[in-house]
Amino acid sequence: MEEEERFITSSMTGEDEETEVTLRPQAFTDYIGQEKAKSNLKIFIEAARSRRDVLDHVLLYGPPGLGKTTLSNIIAKELGVGLKITSGPAIERAGDLAAILTNLDQNDVLFVDEIHALNRTVEEKLYAAMEDYAFDIVLGKGPAAKSMRINLNPFTLVGATTRVGRLTGPFRDRFGIILRLEMYSPEELGVIVRRSAGILGIPIDRDASLEIAKRSRGTPRIANRLLKRVRDFSEVLGSGTVTLQTAAHALDLLEIDHLGLDDIDKRLLETLIEKFDGGPAGLDTLAAAINEDAVTVEDVIEPYLLRLGFIARTGRGRVALKGAYRHLGLKPPIGAQIGMDELI
Ligand SMILES: Nc1ncnc2c1ncn2[C@@H]1O[C@H](COP(=O)(O)OP(=O)(O)OP(=O)(O)O)[C@@H](O)[C@H]1O
Ligand SMILES: [Mg+2]
Repeated sequence: MEEEERFITSSMTGEDEETEVTLRPQAFTDYIGQEKAKSNLKIFIEAARSRRDVLDHVLLYGPPGLGKTTLSNIIAKELGVGLKITSGPAIERAGDLAAILTNLDQNDVLFVDEIHALNRTVEEKLYAAMEDYAFDIVLGKGPAAKSMRINLNPFTLVGATTRVGRLTGPFRDRFGIILRLEMYSPEELGVIVRRSAGILGIPIDRDASLEIAKRSRGTPRIANRLLKRVRDFSEVLGSGTVTLQTAAHALDLLEIDHLGLDDIDKRLLETLIEKFDGGPAGLDTLAAAINEDAVTVEDVIEPYLLRLGFIARTGRGRVALKGAYRHLGLKPPIGAQIGMDELI
């Protein structure tokens, strides 16, 4: 199945784009959860502000839809500086990067989404710029070539990635602040659903918002999307206010189970258990067996299954854990639970 067809994809869809602008928190006070990342950032931002200094470079990583772009916006706002936005794939040549960097004002935030996708030449130029706030360009070719240094305004690079493992060591080392965004608890997502419902003018019961939250795979983007779908059902079927019953009914019709799993998740678990005897199965083999590409499996499908404790990644491949068997109504074999020392 194509990623686009999956209703509970955590990647951005066209429809999300419209509402994400309205629903996107603009300040720390509206940014629910991620307490660790938030409290660290608040301190660093406060310190930078009071010294009138530039904030150290920040790397945000974690699965799609957890709030990396949102947080980068908030960082710039809270610092009271300008924000320029670009992405790894958009910066093709060193010249593109030079144009972006020379346009930054003092202490600005440069947000580079999908920073793992920068090409090598650009990446090396960028980390020199991060360190020295300078950019070396070579003019001309051959023996007549001359190198020229352009000084830049001090800036904060905020990089976001779903694939932190793809960054080279030297690049990662140049970020003073590295924050991993975690999946949200159902309670936190419940608050996010109520906040979004308030903004969109959707009357909703408390337990209905918690039901949506529980089925949102720990991801605010999915929670907001499910809220909108549930509203549609509720408008057609119900009384106006979204109740637990309408929410549960709508989510059942969307074939999202009570933990937020859809048929792709189940296909993965079933394949791992039935075809591969519970594993270990290598990522590529497993992905091929369920007809998905390995990147989607690793970045989009697995994080939530890992979080639920349904699967584990080991040195030898993926294994199914007891919870996965139970969720599918199967009896876990003796010894299904691997030893913790095998986990990586
Ligand atoms: N902490 C939060 N509190 C409230 N809403 C949030 C929070 N984090 C994210 N959201 C909501 O989820 C949406 C998606 O978040 P965002 O675009 O920042 O995710 P992302 O991590 O950048 O995803 P991607 O990896 O796909 O770029 C936002 O528009 C916002 O409405
Ligand atoms: Mg983003």
